[in-house]
Amino acid sequence: MKTDNHFKNLAEIPLKREWSFSDKTIKHTAYITHGIYTYPAKFIPQLAAKIILEHSKENDIVLDPFMGSGTTVIEAMVNNRMAIGTDINEIAVLLAKVKSTPIDYNLLVDGYSNLISDLQYKLNIGFQKEIEMAQHHIKLPDRVDYWFKPLIKNRLIVILHNILKIEHIDVKDFFLIVFAQILKSCSIWLQKSVKPIRDLNKKEIDPLDKFEWQAKRILKKINDFNRIIPPQTDIEKYRIVKNSDARYLFCGNEKAMLIVTSPPYVTSYEYADLHQLPSLWFGFLEELSTFRKKFIGSSFRERSKIELKSKMAENIVFELGNHKKSREVENYFADMLESFIEMKRVLKKGGKAAIVIGNTKLKGVEILNAEVFKEQFENIGFKTHDIIHREIHSKMLPSTRDPKNGKFTKVSNDKKSLVYPTEYILIMEKE
Ligand SMILES: C[S@@+](CC[C@H](N)C(=O)[O-])C[C@H]1O[C@@H](n2cnc3c(N)ncnc32)[C@H](O)[C@@H]1O
Repeated sequence: MKTDNHFKNLAEIPLKREWSFSDKTIKHTAYITHGIYTYPAKFIPQLAAKIILEHSKENDIVLDPFMGSGTTVIEAMVNNRMAIGTDINEIAVLLAKVKSTPIDYNLLVDGYSNLISDLQYKLNIGFQKEIEMAQHHIKLPDRVDYWFKPLIKNRLIVILHNILKIEHIDVKDFFLIVFAQILKSCSIWLQKSVKPIRDLNKKEIDPLDKFEWQAKRILKKINDFNRIIPPQTDIEKYRIVKNSDARYLFCGNEKAMLIVTSPPYVTSYEYADLHQLPSLWFGFLEELSTFRKKFIGSSFRERSKIELKSKMAENIVFELGNHKKSREVENYFADMLESFIEMKRVLKKGGKAAIVIGNTKLKGVEILNAEVFKEQFENIGFKTHDIIHREIHSKMLPSTRDPKNGKFTKVSNDKKSLVYPTEYILIMEKE
């Protein structure tokens, strides 16, 4: 009988029901601090937790080199593992830090009351003077004007200036994340789009109203987290979150037992653009093309010169022909290989890397990420421990197939014909 890791075409691997988490609602997936911020391409906490519980023990180091919003970090902590998370995106690092830091609830409530009453005054009576002071301290790049109308921008700069004056670092970071979370609704970014499209007729909202509402919502979530990891915990002993490139990890040799991660994709749009609003406001983005260049999968990346160590990758690059995308995909596979080599360095012998990845299509060519990654891992000293094929049961994603021609059509209420996209979890073991 064929075992799952001997299928050449991974799409033939039967779907594993217990990995689809189809019974989980937003209430489950957004539990504790998981739902405080809209970070694109998150995986669900139940997925990370199941991998962690099956492949590591208490007190082991669990690492996520593409940590994003910190899902793995939080689930590792909740399950009594030591967590290390790194990401190239500074916003991700701030977010993961806030989501995984228990903060005394009373301290946050006091901070909230002081900040809001200050702002209510400063955004009314002393507004003009406040704007001048804020502008003196915070230098915003010109691109902010592309996204924000002048009055809204002025109200936001006053809010940010007052947050930056908070002394307690965890409380300050908490409010910075609240601020980051309201930016899209306050801007003219088309609300229903994840891509950077302007909506010049977008209805204006008051930043302070939105800020108060979000702060109250997120406060409750921190309090839920405090019930699991109490505020007295010396958190730095259990968790490290750092801004670093996955190809140069912040971790010693052979320290980690398990890696749980979902890497970036090579896509038809710039993934980095999705983070540009908070990055502009917090001074992480001065020039868009330099900012984009840091992200694996971006078309702005420098050309990598390493061998891909995968026949499948070479075939895909060849099939894409003389197209610009062909170089991008080649760079992407080279970058991912470098990150796998780094994973090998930090993993203990027998330790595992669990990579959550789906396949895509570009210019009509199938980009078989999962097949390529498996081959690259096997060529650098890992063996395939397991491959899980799962349906992604997001309420946002279902499509239906037309029963006559099998093509995807708009969502209907006919539950039987619902089709969900699928992805793989490669469980690779260091030999
Ligand atoms: C699919 S997301 C991860 C989402 C995460 N699993 C979660 O639940 O939030 C991929 C992440 O890779 C990060 N990334 C892109 N290039 C990187 C690099 N060179 N080094 C480290 N992280 C990088 C992106 O910033 C993004 O946060």
